[in-house]
Amino acid sequence: MSARDLVFIALMAAVTAALGFFPAIQVPVINVPIVGQNMGAMIAGGLLGAKRGALSQALFVLLVAVGLPLLTGGRGGLGELMGNTGGYIFGWIVAAWAVGWIVERFWTQLNTLHVIIALILGSVVVDYALGIAWLVIGYDAPLLATIGAHAAFLPGAAVKIALTTAIILAMKRYYPLIRT
Ligand code: BTN
Repeated sequence: MSARDLVFIALMAAVTAALGFFPAIQVPVINVPIVGQNMGAMIAGGLLGAKRGALSQALFVLLVAVGLPLLTGGRGGLGELMGNTGGYIFGWIVAAWAVGWIVERFWTQLNTLHVIIALILGSVVVDYALGIAWLVIGYDAPLLATIGAHAAFLPGAAVKIALTTAIILAMKRYYPLIRT
């Protein structure tokens, strides 16, 4: 891994932190907020690919774990990571990896549909599944009501996916960071 790779990993961790400036909107029933930060995982995977994208989110999680107030609303520390939203936050590592893996597979012929599918699978299917599993197993949340409450995230997810798709395709064209 080159120094350039490390710079981009750190940069994407910083982008995820910066997206924490978007204010949280609480979703009733499951007490999980709509946030901007999961877009960091989408961007990281789409721009850096699986390995470096996942590492950027792992770095972000590590910085939160040691207490830096990088989560939305200026929260940080192990207590926050092990809280009810921990499954999503750890899931950002897996989501970035999944998005990056798919983007890499289609890299040479990457189009809008490929990117949208990658983002839906990585940042919606994978991250929501991990977040729901964490809530149900660790917090005794009722499975069906918890799944149903995730409908509240979908309008925001559509906006984030649209913006991230534009970013990924523009960067691929003008400043590609994934090598073939
Ligand atoms: C936190 O700040 O405690 C993390 C919140 C996680 C919220 C999840 S991420 C996936 C889904 N989409 C959202 O907008 N909110 C949830």
